[in-house]
Formats: sequence, structure tokens, C-alpha cells
Amino acid sequence: MTRSLRPRHHFALALTVALPLLLAACSGQYPNSTFTDHTDFNRDAGGLWNLMIWLGIGVFVFVEGLLVYAMIRYRRRPNDPEPEHVHGNTKLELAWTILPAFVLVIIAVPTVKSIWRFQSGAPANALQIDVIGHQWWWEFRYPEQGVTTANELYIPTGRPVNFTLRSQDVIHSFWIPQLGGKRDVVSNRTNHLWFTPDSVGTQAFNGSCNEFCGASHANMRFRAYTVSPDEFDRWVAGQKATAAFTGSAPAAPPAAPAAGGAATATPVAEQATPPAAAGYFFPREQLPAHVIPKTPIPAGLTFDENLLAAGDAQRGMTAFISCIGCHKVRGNPQAMGVIGPELTHIASRHTIAAGLFPNDPAHMARWIKNARKMKPMGAMSMPTLGMGEVDPILKTTVTRSTGGLTDQQIADIVAYLMSLK
Ligand code: CUA
Repeated sequence: MTRSLRPRHHFALALTVALPLLLAACSGQYPNSTFTDHTDFNRDAGGLWNLMIWLGIGVFVFVEGLLVYAMIRYRRRPNDPEPEHVHGNTKLELAWTILPAFVLVIIAVPTVKSIWRFQSGAPANALQIDVIGHQWWWEFRYPEQGVTTANELYIPTGRPVNFTLRSQDVIHSFWIPQLGGKRDVVSNRTNHLWFTPDSVGTQAFNGSCNEFCGASHANMRFRAYTVSPDEFDRWVAGQKATAAFTGSAPAAPPAAPAAGGAATATPVAEQATPPAAAGYFFPREQLPAHVIPKTPIPAGLTFDENLLAAGDAQRGMTAFISCIGCHKVRGNPQAMGVIGPELTHIASRHTIAAGLFPNDPAHMARWIKNARKMKPMGAMSMPTLGMGEVDPILKTTVTRSTGGLTDQQIADIVAYLMSLK
């Protein structure tokens, strides 16, 4: 008798060991795990996941238990007679049809409810954010606030946020695992995604592209910062302001006088934008380790770092003429490009190159000099600007006549960009 119980004991023992291990794998500090309760979206998805896991475990234990029981109880013994041959059993067949159907209903009802809730459009008070996927970076526009930024997203807590997802080129996919998602960003189509970060304070999260979109798909990352409504308002105020450094840039032309009337333009001194106080942005010293990029700089990319300490923002603003075709800096009337990320407040961001490198002078300088060697990109991307460098796509050497910049000029541009808080 004790002999026949042994397999059952083994099974129970195996289950006791396996279950806690299995459950332990789903908890703990995993900064990119989707199992959080930071948003209504993730709570709904997590609830469905738990429901399915526990129902699945119940079904598994029941079915395997029956199987193991049958194997042991009805195993072949010496001198056993031929077993009875059975064909069809109405009661059993009804039971194993109705029981799974019942389980499916338990799963389907909350699943369909969640789908309807999150596909039927965001609540009316939602913050609108336009997300535009580019090869290979993210553009974020806040249409109601008049703010455009790149690769770093600020979301106030306690208010629904509605993302309108569009692509400039190929199919991307937008995902902040700790907050909810993911959703495809499809060319010639507008997708939506909304959630409410209602049980999370000021925190930093990783986001990424999750649909293969070419050479730098894995380098199309972003950061999301959940902040208090007050911090968000201060961030908006800072981002709305024109560039903090305007140097001695030519002033915008004065408004034309009304036809036939006296000039009504206010004196130039009153028009000039006061130096913008830097608005709120996520404190650098509070960045958790998991959002700080650790991408190594490829070997062989040199830059005379001694020049960085003496970079001149005023000269840099002049040298920035090399960049104005692609980048916009509000407050610098020449910089109107829209192909690349807007740089009006680049110094308030913690990363460059779509989350690939930290935003500091050493990385910025090498990026300007040799972007194409730091991140796989296409022929329409950030060009190689370092004088004497070989462009890995064009296979030509950068010279003064092709717009090459010396290390000194790059150090000046870095000083200019680092002043744009
Ligand atoms: Cu964009 Cu993958």
C-alpha cells in the first residue's frame, strides 16, 4: 500500500517546488517587466493574466491528476483479464464539452470588457500626445501645449493620456512595458493607445520600438517620465519657451506697420524674449540605473576632449548653420529644419541618438563628428560631419567643402547645444 502512494507523493513534492519557483520568476524588481499596477491598462491586463494563469493551473492540475490517477489505478497487472471495450459515453462527452465552454466564458467576458474599454477611445479629459515614429527615433508632440520633443516623454500622473500613433516611414511599435501598450505605429494609418498612470509617482521608465523597422530597430528607444501635475506644468512652461541661448542672433523682422497707419510695432527691446528660466525636467541625479544608456562608443572614434571645456556657445551658434537644414531650434531664426529632432531644449534631455547614449559633451561631440559610426543609419540620416573622417555610407572623406567641421567647431556647437536647457 505504501508503495503505491509513492508516485503521488513525488508529484505533490514536485508541484510544491515548481510553483513557488514559477511565481518567483514573475515578481521582484524587473524594470522592463509589464507586470505592474502603475496604470489602469496594466491592472486590467494583469488581472486577465492572473485569471488565465490560475484557471490554466486549475485545468492542468485537474487533467494531469486524472491522467496520473488512471495510469496508476488502472495499470496493467499480471493475469489481468481483457478490459471492457467501451464506445461512447454521453454523460462524459457532455461534461467535457460543457466544462471547457464554461471556462472559456469566464475568460471571455472580462477580456472582451477590457478590449471595449481600451479601444473605445480615451476619456474626454485625456492629455493628447502625438507620437510619430521615424527611422530611428521618436517624435512627441503635445498639440494642446504647443510642445515638440524627441525620445523623452513627460506624462502627468493621475490623468489619462491619449497617444495618437503615426509613422513617418515604416511600421514601428510603441511600448512602455511598465505603463502599458504595446501598439503598432503604422504608415498611412492612425492608431490610438491610452492609459492613466494613476498609481505611480515621479519615475523614469524605458520605452522602445517593438516592430522590426530596419538597421537600427534595436536603437530606437525612448524614456518616459511620470511626473506630478505641477512638475508637468513646469516642464511644459520650460519647453514652450524659446531657446535659452539666443546669443546675438538676428532678431525677427519687426511686424509690418498697418497699411496707411502709424507703425504699431512695439520697440525691439520689448519684443526680445527674456532669457528663459530652465523649466522642470527629471533630475539627472535621480535617474535610476536602468534608464541610463550603457552603449559603448565604437573603438577608434577620437575627439580632442580638451576642447570641450573651452567650447564657445556664441561661435557654436554660428557653426550650427551646418545643422539648420534638419533641426529646429525655436529662438534661432535660421534653424527651421524638420527632418531631425527639434533641439530647442536638447540640454534638458538625458539621452541622445534615440536613447542610445547619455546626453553629455563627450558623447554629443562624437555623435556630431561620427554619428554614422555610432548607430547604423541610412543615407538620409545625420551625416558624418568630422573633418577628415570617412563616411561609412558614402565611402568618401569629409572635407571643408562638403561641410566638414573641426573638433574646435564641434566643441563650440556642443557648448551651444548644452546651453539649450
Ligand atoms: Cu522602429 Cu523598430
